[in-house]
Amino acid sequence: MDILTNIESIRADFPILTQTVHNRPLVYLDNAATTQKPWSVIKKIEEGYTQQNANVHRGVHFLSQMATEAHEAARATVQQFLGAAHAHEIIFTRGTTESINLVAHSFGETFLQTGDEIIVSEMEHHSNIVPWQLLQQRKGIVIKVIPFNEQGELDLEALASLFTDRTKLLAVTHVSNVLGTVNPVKDIIAMAHVRQVPVLIDGAQSVPHIAVNVQDLDADFYVFSGHKIYGPTGIGVLYGKEKWLNAMVPYQGGGEMIAQVSFEKTTFNELPYKFEAGTPDFIGSTALAEAIRYVQNIGMDQIAAYETYLLNYATDKLQQLGDVRFFGTSLHKSAVISMQVGNIHHYDMGTLLDKLGIALRTGHHCAQPIMKHYGIEGTLRASFALYNTTAEIDALVAGIARVKQLF
Ligand code: ALA
Repeated sequence: MDILTNIESIRADFPILTQTVHNRPLVYLDNAATTQKPWSVIKKIEEGYTQQNANVHRGVHFLSQMATEAHEAARATVQQFLGAAHAHEIIFTRGTTESINLVAHSFGETFLQTGDEIIVSEMEHHSNIVPWQLLQQRKGIVIKVIPFNEQGELDLEALASLFTDRTKLLAVTHVSNVLGTVNPVKDIIAMAHVRQVPVLIDGAQSVPHIAVNVQDLDADFYVFSGHKIYGPTGIGVLYGKEKWLNAMVPYQGGGEMIAQVSFEKTTFNELPYKFEAGTPDFIGSTALAEAIRYVQNIGMDQIAAYETYLLNYATDKLQQLGDVRFFGTSLHKSAVISMQVGNIHHYDMGTLLDKLGIALRTGHHCAQPIMKHYGIEGTLRASFALYNTTAEIDALVAGIARVKQLF
């Protein structure tokens, strides 16, 4: 579907976009933090609770079977969306953060010994740093860091020099939530695989914006969140290759993840249930599948092209304003703009823009090592989604110009 010619009907799919904030039309440009939800997703949640609510995998009764079928169909939708080989390689979690914590725990406990090394990058979100630091405290592993250059691109020569015989895993983001850089993850995975090192890709900022195929990338683990792709909060995905997931110890214990329990010996369920202890968010999974259908109906390539158009339009207009410093200027960039306008503090700018109805994120964006790299405390960040318009970008640019005048 061509987004530009259908933008008004697409916007009508998202009820929140008609809101006013401080008596101004809402201009929502904080999509890297979370996206708004289309009616189809909202209705799916309502339908779940009004027509289908019963616990999954536990009942012989009609409603339980319907809910189970919907939950497992959602898993198949995610499998197909990511291009995974098997549905049981899709684990439902609470989101990207929980998915990475799961791998840090279960891969770490199974495969890592004191002195083993993992590699992350300098541009990771805290959720792809801190779980590994917790593992470091538990197991005495070593964390190595791939640096990035002034444009916000990973230094792959430096990466090549970080691998040793002790490297056990590489964990890197596909798209930076601050810099917008689209990392060459297929090349990075190939570099790691030559050295028999498995790779985890943080797809929180990529899956909503570009087509992803985990088999084509040959990713060992790929994680993302539902709420950043027009789905509900509290549901996310861990994709893992069967061979790793089968070998890994469970993450949490509880119902559903077991085969047999006795006080003498407990055995665990097969994939994917081994990693889904307790009642899963089966309403969330079905609503996430609805969100995936929504973006698939439009087409991931159309979404990527339209958001690149918005990114280029916004970058040009902001450049014309003058006195704007951009953080992240890679040629391969997703629709995220982090900036500093003159000497105006990002909180002041964000607060005054909010008064004009314009929602942006300010601060360190849960990526403090990036701030340290540039010697700054934070940035003003605009991040775009498929429903944003050039008129909204004009409103942003006019808003920034107005705040500049005030200062
Ligand atoms: N990780 C989200 C962001 O970048 C919350 O805003």
